[in-house]
Order: sequence, then structure tokens, then C-alpha cells
Amino acid sequence: MCYKFLNYHIHIFLQEYMKKITYTSLIRKKLLLWHKNDNGRTMPWKEERNPYRVWLSEIILQQTRVAQGLDYYNKFIINYPTIEKLAKAEENSVFKHWEGLGYYSRCKNLIATARFIAFELGGKFPTTYESILQLKGVGPYTAAAIASFAYDLPHAVVDGNVMRMLARYFGIVKPIDSSEGKNYFNVLAQSLLHTASPALYNQAIMDFGATICKPKLPLCSTCVLKKTCIALEKNIVESLPVKEKRLVKKNRFFYYIIARFDNKFYVRKRIEKDIWQNLWEFILLEQPQKVALDDFLVSSTFLDVAGKKSILKYASIFYKQQLTHQTIEGIFIHIELKSPLKNKLYSSVSKNELKKLAFPRFITNYFEVSGSL
Ligand code: ADE
Repeated sequence: MCYKFLNYHIHIFLQEYMKKITYTSLIRKKLLLWHKNDNGRTMPWKEERNPYRVWLSEIILQQTRVAQGLDYYNKFIINYPTIEKLAKAEENSVFKHWEGLGYYSRCKNLIATARFIAFELGGKFPTTYESILQLKGVGPYTAAAIASFAYDLPHAVVDGNVMRMLARYFGIVKPIDSSEGKNYFNVLAQSLLHTASPALYNQAIMDFGATICKPKLPLCSTCVLKKTCIALEKNIVESLPVKEKRLVKKNRFFYYIIARFDNKFYVRKRIEKDIWQNLWEFILLEQPQKVALDDFLVSSTFLDVAGKKSILKYASIFYKQQLTHQTIEGIFIHIELKSPLKNKLYSSVSKNELKKLAFPRFITNYFEVSGSL
């Protein structure tokens, strides 16, 4: 009886083990074949070997969809065709080209890294995974992408697309945002890598995750891996990958005062470790709760800045912007001051100077819908 029981479990174990080996060799072959014959995704950095261009595209694509990143990539390549050009550019003008892309610390790191490579490394881009990983703004995923795409080094990329497709294909329920899960997916992805052509394989798996094994409405019925996909077999595709933490969004209320004095406007650079770091803004009076405009205009918060004699020119409606972790709701209040602003945090600039500064999308959107100042 006991012998039979043991035999049964050994049989199941071996069956699962063989299944895993079969599935593992299949996924690699099928992905490469799909990439060769059916992957219609075209992107300017595809098959790019120039490390500067690969690095630039990967930094732009961190937290940004390909469709949104395309124009920025092209704009950067035209304005800064080499790492030396980027290193020598004025910081404000690089930020101006980055305007609207979000996660502005990426731009700050981009400038710092370009200067480091151009001035400290004699313009020579690092050539090993470990030295690429040392660069500011480069984590394990980006280092693997640069090392494989630029130098064909055997490092598997593991981003959200890759984890989703592996979680579904192998039916893995470990949370992708837990340290155990991350480790597991890294080891698995590395074991699957086609070491003879890492660049080709990495591109294939990323494109497959982004276009076929999509987060919503994945294309299972035409998928080349459908016969061996465990999530499809168990009907759990939509519930994978599993995430441990639920994103709690914070609400913030921004009251922007566009104060004019002597035909100049008061602005400041956001230097704090917060959203929109290094971008410019008008006088911001952030409130813990939403306050009706009429109440706000008689509040001491507003009057301390505007003074009693300033003239209210115009107040906009409330606008909303959804960021990954926060919802911003805000209003723009235009006033004409009767005397210069006392707050030294802000400097006054002309309308022409304003055009050279990089503002958050929340503000540039307002300019677009409202016409101008
Ligand atoms: N996301 C980040 N890098 C990418 C690449 N090289 N191709 C497709 N999607 C990506």
C-alpha cells in the first residue's frame, strides 16, 4: 500500500518535471519563431547596437509606453546625436525636451550619466553588465537590456511584460512584487534565455508580452504557446500575475497662483524629493483638502501671498491628472500684484523666458486648453 502510494507520487513528480522541461524548451523555440515570422512591432531602436542609443531608448521606456516614448526618442536623437552632445547640453534645455514624459529623475540621471561617460570615461560606454549596472538610473532590468541589445551579452531581461507572460505560461502564483517572487522570476527568465542570441530572444519575449500576452484581453486564441500554457489550461489567465500590494492612491489639491507684476511671472524650480522634481511651476499653495474657489480667495493662505490690493484676473476650472500613485486636482488663479512678491523662493521671469522652462504636464496642458497666459 505504502509502496504504491510512493510510486504514485514519484510518477506525478516525474510527470510534472518532464512537463516543465518540455515546456521550457518549447517556449524558447516558439518565441524565436514567432519573433522571426509574426512579430510586426517596429521601433526605431530595434536591432540597434549603438550603446548610447540603446541606453537612451531604455531610459525613456522605463515607466513609459512605447507609443508615448517614440517621439521623445526621435527628438533626443536629433538634438543629441551623441553622448558628448548630450553631456555638453544645458540642463534646462534637456529638461525642456523631456517635458511631458514624467518621472523626471530619469532626466536628471540621464544628464549625470552622459556627463560621467563623456568626461570621466573618455566617451567610452561601459561594456560589461556589472559596469552598466553602476550607472545612475540603471537597475538590473535596464542593465540586462543594454548588455544584451548593445553587446549580445547573456543577461535575461525581466520587466512587467516578461513576468506576466512567464507567470501565465508556467502557472506561477508567486506575487511578482514580493522579493521571493522577483527572485524566482529572475532565475526562471535567466534559465530560459537563448544564450546563443540574447538580444534576439530578449526582444522576442518583451514584444510577445506587450502585444500578445497583454495585461487585458490577451490574444490567447491565436497564441503560439496556447497548447502548453498552464494558465490557459486552468482558466486563470486573467488572474495572473498575482500582486501582493494594492496600490493606494493619494489625493492632492494644488492651487496655482499665476501672479504677474511688471509684466513678469513668479516661478520656481521644484527641488524637493517629490513628483515633478527639477521642473518649474508657478506659486503653489497645496491644500490638504479641496476648498471651493470663493472660500479659497478669502483665506489667509491666499491673502498672505496675493495681498489685499491685488486684482483677480481669472480663475480656471479644476483640472485632474492621474499619476501612478497620486491623483492631482488643481486650479489656476491669475492675479495682478500691486507690489513685488516677498517670498524669495520664487523668481520673476518674462513670458519669453517662461517658454524655455520645463513645466509639468499638469501646467502645460492648462496652457494648451486655455490658449496661453
Ligand atoms: N521596453 C523596454 N525596452 C524595450 C524594447 N527594447 N522593446 C520593446 N519594449 C521595450
